[in-house]
Amino acid sequence: MKRVYLLSTHLLVLGLVSSSFVAESANDNETDMSALMSFKSFITGDPLRALSSWNSSHHHCEWQGVICGRRHPERVTALVLPAQQLSGHISLSLANLTFLKKLDLRQNRLIGSIPEDLGRLSRLKLLNLSLNSLHGRIPSSLSNCSNLEFLHLKDNSLQGTIPPSLTQYCRHLKFLSLKGNRLLGSIPESLGNLTNAVTIDLSHNTVSGSIPSSLGELQFLQFFYIIGNNVTGKIPHSIYNISSMINLELGDNKLEGILPPEIFNGFSNLKKLYLWGNYFKGQIPVSLSNCSSLAHIDLQFNNFTGPLPSSIGKLKSLYWLAVNSNQLEANKPRDWGFIDSMTNCTNLQLFDISNNRLRGVIPNTIANFSASIYYLRVSANPISGSIPKGIAALTNLTTLGIDQTFLGGIIPKEFGRLQNLQLLSLSNNMMVGEVPATLALAVFDISNNNLVGAIPKEIISLPSLSIGINFSHNHLNGSLPLEIGFLKNIETIDLSNNKLSGEIPTTIDGCQILRNLYIGRNMMSGTIPSTLRNMRGLQVLDLSRNSFSGEVPQFMTRMALQLLNISFNNFEGQLPSEGVFMNLSTVDIRGNPKLCGGAPEIHLRKCSLDTPTHRHIPRSILVTLLSIAGAFLCLISMMLCFLSHRHSLRRLQRRKHAITVMTPQHMNISYHDLLKATSGFSSENVIGMGGFGVVYKGVMAVEGLSTSVAVKVINLEQRGASRSFLSECETLRSVRHRNLIKVLSCCSSIDQRGNEFKALVFEYMPNGSLEEWLHPKESMDQQPFESLGITQRLNIAIDVAEALDYLHEHGPGPVVHCDLKPSNILLDNEMIAHVRFWISEIFDSTRDHDLSIHDKHGWNQGFDWLHSSRVRIWE
Ligand SMILES: *[C@@H]1O[C@H](CO)[C@@H](O)[C@H](O)[C@H]1NC(C)=O
Ligand SMILES: *[C@@H]1O[C@H](CO)[C@@H](O)[C@H](O)[C@H]1NC(C)=O
Ligand SMILES: *[C@@H]1O[C@H](CO)[C@@H](O)[C@H](O)[C@H]1NC(C)=O
Ligand SMILES: *[C@@H]1O[C@H](CO)[C@@H](O)[C@H](O)[C@H]1NC(C)=O
Ligand SMILES: *[C@@H]1O[C@H](CO)[C@@H](O)[C@H](O)[C@H]1NC(C)=O
Ligand SMILES: *[C@@H]1O[C@H](CO)[C@@H](O)[C@H](O)[C@H]1NC(C)=O
Ligand SMILES: *[C@@H]1O[C@H](CO)[C@@H](O)[C@H](O)[C@H]1NC(C)=O
Ligand SMILES: *[C@@H]1O[C@H](CO)[C@@H](O)[C@H](O)[C@H]1NC(C)=O
Ligand SMILES: *[C@@H]1O[C@H](CO)[C@@H](O)[C@H](O)[C@H]1NC(C)=O
Ligand SMILES: *[C@@H]1O[C@H](CO)[C@@H](O)[C@H](O)[C@H]1NC(C)=O
Repeated sequence: MKRVYLLSTHLLVLGLVSSSFVAESANDNETDMSALMSFKSFITGDPLRALSSWNSSHHHCEWQGVICGRRHPERVTALVLPAQQLSGHISLSLANLTFLKKLDLRQNRLIGSIPEDLGRLSRLKLLNLSLNSLHGRIPSSLSNCSNLEFLHLKDNSLQGTIPPSLTQYCRHLKFLSLKGNRLLGSIPESLGNLTNAVTIDLSHNTVSGSIPSSLGELQFLQFFYIIGNNVTGKIPHSIYNISSMINLELGDNKLEGILPPEIFNGFSNLKKLYLWGNYFKGQIPVSLSNCSSLAHIDLQFNNFTGPLPSSIGKLKSLYWLAVNSNQLEANKPRDWGFIDSMTNCTNLQLFDISNNRLRGVIPNTIANFSASIYYLRVSANPISGSIPKGIAALTNLTTLGIDQTFLGGIIPKEFGRLQNLQLLSLSNNMMVGEVPATLALAVFDISNNNLVGAIPKEIISLPSLSIGINFSHNHLNGSLPLEIGFLKNIETIDLSNNKLSGEIPTTIDGCQILRNLYIGRNMMSGTIPSTLRNMRGLQVLDLSRNSFSGEVPQFMTRMALQLLNISFNNFEGQLPSEGVFMNLSTVDIRGNPKLCGGAPEIHLRKCSLDTPTHRHIPRSILVTLLSIAGAFLCLISMMLCFLSHRHSLRRLQRRKHAITVMTPQHMNISYHDLLKATSGFSSENVIGMGGFGVVYKGVMAVEGLSTSVAVKVINLEQRGASRSFLSECETLRSVRHRNLIKVLSCCSSIDQRGNEFKALVFEYMPNGSLEEWLHPKESMDQQPFESLGITQRLNIAIDVAEALDYLHEHGPGPVVHCDLKPSNILLDNEMIAHVRFWISEIFDSTRDHDLSIHDKHGWNQGFDWLHSSRVRIWE
């Protein structure tokens, strides 16, 4: 009876099991497929076509990112689509993938919230939705995923609190990352139930409350991060028992209290200790030096007091010690013992004790610090004595801060050995003597000392100075070195409050990205150089309290200037009234009694009519004069053209050889040099285009200096260059005249695709072609060109005539230029004209319209132009 019953239940169970199995698997193909199809239907953007294989022509287990089980071959066990730029919502239907163990959709563009239904995925081990744009709360249902081990939700926009059920029930959770969201509320006390946790990362949220003492229960915890929250209170004692702890990062919170003296004895594995940016006070516990693995200590911006423990040198692995901005004290030599002891830290890289109350003399043994140190700051302490010379032995230093102390004496010459130094701050000390000329830096601040002598031109021409120099408030004298123009990468120059004399060098425009220039309160004179107009980025210019004179140039109205101080100088004439000059809040012109005019708000006296600023020649006389001059010039050009052409071939035969011998040795330029110089021939660098090919702007080293160049890439498909391209180029390079475009180099090579590649490198003319000045294209120019003045036009005409004269009479070869037209006349920084020229033979088959007259129109074209351009140039 009993057996029958047992048997029948057995059968019943069997039957139930098998029938339910059949029923389930019959549906499974469809359940999982339709769940995936629903997932796909919520994806609105799929630029990488990650889901293009998701169609009915294949079984869903073969779709990209879908993995099915071994025992249940129809069931999806993993959906892995990281970094696919998928946008859209996460479909609820994923909750129907009940065999899912791994859901990894990290680094996409998913929006909306995390579906509550995901809590049904009881087999889920890994959920990675990091780096999306998910909103809403963290569903507390996730605590039903009792197998969850890895929960990564970092860098989304999740709101609300950390659900306590999550920390209470997810017993298996090893990795919890909620970093970089907008979570509020406190850290749940139930955190202590995550007994398997290895990593907990709650940093960069707005979590408040205190650290629960239950944390001490987590005996496997290695990484605990709560940086950048609003956590208050003291560090619970229990935490110090977690001997597995490796990184304890509590920085940037509102933690407080005294760290008990013996507290660090248990942290035998601790490597990183971040307590920075809190309200800790009291002494730094000596027991810290018992954490024998400790390598990275960051306690800056707290209220620690007392001396720095001298046992700290026991930490053999220490490479980072930042204790700056506390109230640490050194009142007797013994309190400086940490310096001696730290000479044993052979990996030390960063040492910052600035902004404390360390008094007295820095021990010379600082010179025995590890040679690997690159960052050393002792600034803002009441240190006395002089700079320990030995610091010059720490040659890996990139940053050295010894500012705001009571150090006197000189800047050691030996600092010149610090060849890696980028930032040197010695400001606000009591230093005397001269500035050593041997330094190589990015930032150099020696302001507020008592330094004397001239500005060393070696320093002021260092292209490595990239951020700024501050030499203000010293007693430096002499003039500004011309080499200042080599500071191509510098943003700020402050030389104010010294005794500098002389003029502003015209080379100043070499400082191409200079934003702030302060030379107020010196003894400088002369006028504002016209090259200043090229300094397009200049925003703040302070020339106040010098003896500058002359007119304030009109071009300054079109600069990017936001603040201009020219007060207390001897400027005269009409003050411009636009741009920075419109407003008293942006310009200071006080103390220049000879200035007049300007914007009404400036309240200067009116300029009297006879101010000899611009004398006007009657227009009719001018037109006649200019027409005559123009016609004459054209006539000469035509004759020269004609003559040269006639003689050209003969002279080429005769002279080419001699010239080639005379030319400087060939400057080797490869295709790759040009590729680099023009940022890969990027379209942003195109400055001209035509049948001949394309001209790019580029930057490359020419004779050791980084120089702007124009690279003309010859279009060989259309034309084909002569076989003697390179030797012809050399001839071109030997043609040197101040009014001719300099050919810097030529390149005859093979490009990336193996095609023949020929290019010419010219000097770059920042002011474009005459054509652009005469007929500005509106679309091209946000800042309209100033129209050319009479003098400028005459000067250009003279420049052009000189160029032609040289080419035809004194040049090295049969150089013809009958295609003289405004687009072939280029203007440099100082508006000096440079003619683009060519050798008649260089392209036998090129017939380059732009370069030579031997095009289809031949003479006629040149001739026509001379006629028509007379009007164009001279009107
Ligand atoms: C599921 O689909 C696969 C392939 O289409 C098929 O071989 C299998 O028999 C299907 N399973 C069920 C239970 O229908
Ligand atoms: C369906 O997916 C296959 C790859 O799995 C692909 O080759 C095919 O083009 C897709 N068909 C359609 C209509 O997208
Ligand atoms: C989940 O599957 C069930 C039955 O297979 C179906 O009724 C339900 O609509 C599915 N849910 C979603 C969100 O697709
Ligand atoms: C989850 O995604 C984050 C962010 O891309 C990544 O750093 C982490 O390694 C991922 N973890 C797992 C287990 O997939
Ligand atoms: C967890 O699942 C149970 C049923 O299995 C359900 O009653 C409960 O509401 C779920 N919890 C959450 C937080 O969704
Ligand atoms: C969580 O831990 C506390 C003690 O910290 C314990 O009292 C509680 O029972 C635990 N909860 C669960 C669900 O295990
Ligand atoms: C931090 O907490 C204080 C109150 O203690 C509050 O005023 C402040 O807004 C909080 N900051 C953030 C970022 O939540
Ligand atoms: C440090 O302590 C001083 C008093 O000793 C207090 O005035 C100051 O606000 C504290 N600073 C911080 C950041 O806690
Ligand atoms: C450096 O370490 C050695 C042993 O490793 C020790 O003898 C010496 O006293 C230490 N030096 C300092 C200055 O602490
Ligand atoms: C100095 O710095 C360089 C580059 O960072 C590094 O390769 C070298 O090992 C460092 N020297 C020492 C002694 O650490």
